[in-house]
Amino acid sequence: MYFCKLSTNRKWKKIVSKRRFGLALPLVAGTDCPCPEPELCRPIRHRPDFEVFVFDVGQKTWKSYDWSQITTVAAFGKYDSKLTCYAHSKGARVVLKGDVSLKDIIDPGFRASWIAQKLNLAKIQHMDGINLDIEQEVNCSSPEYDALTALVKETTDSFRREIEGSQVTFDVALKCYNYTGIADACDFLFVMSYDEQSQIWSECIAGANAPYNQTLTGYNDYIKMGMNPKKLVMGVPWYGYDYTCLNLSEDHVCTIAKVPFRGAPCSDAAGRQVPCKLIMKQINSSISGNQWDQDQQAPYYNYKDPAGHFHQVWYDNPQSISLKATYIQNYGLQGIGMWNANCLDYSGDAVAKQQAEEMWEVLKPKLFQR
Ligand SMILES: *[C@@H]1O[C@H](CO)[C@@H](O)[C@H](O)[C@H]1NC(C)=O
Ligand SMILES: *[C@@H]1O[C@H](CO)[C@@H](O)[C@H](O)[C@H]1NC(C)=O
Ligand SMILES: *[C@@H]1O[C@H](CO)[C@@H](O)[C@H](O)[C@H]1NC(C)=O
Ligand SMILES: *[C@@H]1O[C@H](CO)[C@@H](O)[C@H](O)[C@H]1NC(C)=O
Ligand SMILES: *[C@@H]1O[C@H](CO)[C@@H](O)[C@H](O)[C@H]1NC(C)=O
Repeated sequence: MYFCKLSTNRKWKKIVSKRRFGLALPLVAGTDCPCPEPELCRPIRHRPDFEVFVFDVGQKTWKSYDWSQITTVAAFGKYDSKLTCYAHSKGARVVLKGDVSLKDIIDPGFRASWIAQKLNLAKIQHMDGINLDIEQEVNCSSPEYDALTALVKETTDSFRREIEGSQVTFDVALKCYNYTGIADACDFLFVMSYDEQSQIWSECIAGANAPYNQTLTGYNDYIKMGMNPKKLVMGVPWYGYDYTCLNLSEDHVCTIAKVPFRGAPCSDAAGRQVPCKLIMKQINSSISGNQWDQDQQAPYYNYKDPAGHFHQVWYDNPQSISLKATYIQNYGLQGIGMWNANCLDYSGDAVAKQQAEEMWEVLKPKLFQR
């Protein structure tokens, strides 16, 4: 999730408070179960054959999710004990969000206290593990490179020891990590295969969030570097990008402002992240209607805002996700997941309901498609 929050672009998110975790609260395990049945507070031990890994950012929309499929919920919103009880009643894990400042983790003492604090929190909240989401640049020859692998290993060891059946996962973008070392040290990697226009090196034009070829090439690269496919969960976007076009040509080429990022002359920071639910409402009032880009295997549309500016919106729909998801079975990946589950329209109106169902439906393993 490199830049995945919809309301605030995390690219510019500042770390506002930094705490040292010296004072861990004493924990009496097993007390204060908020669920209607005490067994719903017990950690999930079952290991599913296929993961459907769902990011939840809060609100109550989780009630409308397709729980017949979900195996893990990464709770990135405010803690909601009802979500945990409900997930457990469906046999799904709920895992904590783990983010940490990279420069701190070089210190083994810091790592130990950070892990102790997270473990304590997971236990108090009756959770089943942790999802490590570290959205900072890692340089290959930096001390952070090895410290990160150590952090994942130490976190996994502690969680497995203290919470039976617990799951530790790590979110990766294409950066300089010790991928295989990290994958070996935890249950699996959630691959954030989106925000792929975060560095645009060629022409500054709007493009797909997760183009087909580029995405699958990324997975091929992981496998080529010796990664076990069972250690990979494919992340798909349930959001898109709205770009204001400096110029929109007749053949739908939308030129965008130059917003440099990490050395590249332009980036998706020229656009604005929009949730699927907004996109679905907007398509019918667009000037182009739904378009399909053959090269990128992704849908888009153009619209004109009240000020008269043209926009191009790139997003993912059941068709584009389904095409990418075929790779999962063909190459034996561990599962699929999305950023984020809240993004669909769960208002209950008939069209929205149908669209949401289709988005959930394409997550199901597709057999015999090779
Ligand atoms: C990585 O290297 C770049 C340039 O070489 C530097 O600007 C950046 O601060 C470094 N990042 C870290 C986390 O050390
Ligand atoms: C990755 O991490 C593993 C485990 O710590 C280590 O054995 C291996 O040498 C590392 N690989 C690289 C390329 O740093
Ligand atoms: C801008 O768009 C117009 C009309 O769509 C097109 O004729 C023109 O070639 C475009 N200009 C550039 C620089 O792409
Ligand atoms: C948009 O138009 C299509 C085709 O006319 C229709 O099936 C669909 O229900 C409309 N979507 C919404 C959100 O109204
Ligand atoms: C995508 O990859 C396939 C296979 O490598 C290739 O044949 C095709 O031309 C590529 N498409 C694009 C748009 O790059």
